[in-house]
Amino acid sequence: MDHTGLVEALRAMPPLPLVAQRVLQLVRDPDYSVDDLVALVRTDPALTGRILQLCNSAAYALRSAVSSVGAAVAYIGIRNLVRIALACCTAPHYRKAQNSPYASPGELWRHTFAVALAAQWCAQRCGHDQADAAFTAGVLHNLGKVVLSQAYPEVGFAEGPPATDHLQMEQRLFGIDHAAAAAVVVDSWGLPRDLRRAVRSHHDPAAVQDESPLPAILQAADVLVLQQGIGNPFPSIPLRVEPAVLGRLHLEEADLAAAAAHVHSELQRSVELLNLEGLASR
Ligand SMILES: [Fe+2]
Repeated sequence: MDHTGLVEALRAMPPLPLVAQRVLQLVRDPDYSVDDLVALVRTDPALTGRILQLCNSAAYALRSAVSSVGAAVAYIGIRNLVRIALACCTAPHYRKAQNSPYASPGELWRHTFAVALAAQWCAQRCGHDQADAAFTAGVLHNLGKVVLSQAYPEVGFAEGPPATDHLQMEQRLFGIDHAAAAAVVVDSWGLPRDLRRAVRSHHDPAAVQDESPLPAILQAADVLVLQQGIGNPFPSIPLRVEPAVLGRLHLEEADLAAAAAHVHSELQRSVELLNLEGLASR
């Protein structure tokens, strides 16, 4: 596929469901209400069904069955409801990354969800009032890997010479790196500017100094999850959260350790949300 064909394929990627776009808009208001979110989710019967299935699954271990979104949010909390809604709406995209040179679709999704959790945690820790936007940036940041996997199913990274910079390697193999590819997708979806910028620049050191902390949050989250070996296709490339990123977010090394522990325990609790096949096929 030539570059023009690839960009067209990226732009043609099916958009997020309308309900997901509206959830995104709603949670960007720091004062959004639980009632508004519940009312919004209830407009989508398929999403409502998925949420009720998940809430009644073993993962949440509720004492009695819940049969409404309102009851579900009372049990699991609004943050979990946002996570479930966004995970249900984005997971189907990740299922398409069959034969990916990066990782299996399940591992790619595990990485993606872990980055979203880490980004949400970092946003809260550094006092950013857009913790749910940070989660959203996390679930979107790897879409470039999905579309590159679909466009070039025959490519394996072993074919290229050893690389110290995986973005350069992608440039060489695909003519575009995964962050730029994801940016084409989210630009075509018309998502808010700071989200698009965070996705596009999640490997760009210059973006750390943006007025919005979202790029720095996403960079910290991505590196910290890769360091845990979750969905890391290039384990030989050394990784660290850059001091400039920590400084921008007023975080210490100890905070990263706390974030990693948080992600680890949340992943253990999130078996249902990590089951890509089950999540995407509901
Ligand atoms: Fe990345």
